Amino acid sequence: MTTRVRTAVLISGRGSNMSALIESARREDFPAEIALVLSDRARAAGIKSAQAAGVAAFALDYRTFSARTEFETTVTVALVAAGVELICLAGFMRILSPGFVERWRGRILNIHPSLLPDLRGLHTHERALAERRAEHGCTVHFVTAELDAGPIVAQARVPILPGDDAGLLAARVLVEEHRIYPQALDAVARAVSAARL
Ligand code: GRF
Repeated sequence: MTTRVRTAVLISGRGSNMSALIESARREDFPAEIALVLSDRARAAGIKSAQAAGVAAFALDYRTFSARTEFETTVTVALVAAGVELICLAGFMRILSPGFVERWRGRILNIHPSLLPDLRGLHTHERALAERRAEHGCTVHFVTAELDAGPIVAQARVPILPGDDAGLLAARVLVEEHRIYPQALDAVARAVSAARL
């Protein structure tokens, strides 16, 4: 197999999607390897989980930078130093500037807990319930300068059941997130790898 695509995961918190990606990338035939985990928050629990799984992980604490461009420049320096070709945002709570998105054009994926283009933005589970929708889900998409609007790579649906609250619904969606994000990374990494030839 050709060299695996070095991939970074950017997180802000728990990192369960990050762990699903790390776990999948253990497979010998998986086309990506998780080379680095970066967090914008020093206290993100995902940093420790990544390190426990043997993946290089550290925080670039957003609050210690004077401007977004400074933060993003430092992120790019770290990614380039690690030989990263693909970035997976996984619960990463910062909006990236158009300049950063352009620098990594076609190389950034995100997972969003809704059936995009429906319910862009935050609090998607609460909003799906408030709107009495019959179903909900999650989407992996390429990141573009417009928030939650880039080309869709994978999507999964779940039903909204009687008695659901936001927590129950989030948990049902999360199971699907952990399933489709590795699948999407697999597909995109294969394409990146093929484009190298
Ligand atoms: C996930 O629901 C993801 O879709 C959203 O934030 C949550 C992050 O969870 N963007 P985790 O940190 O991956 O556990």
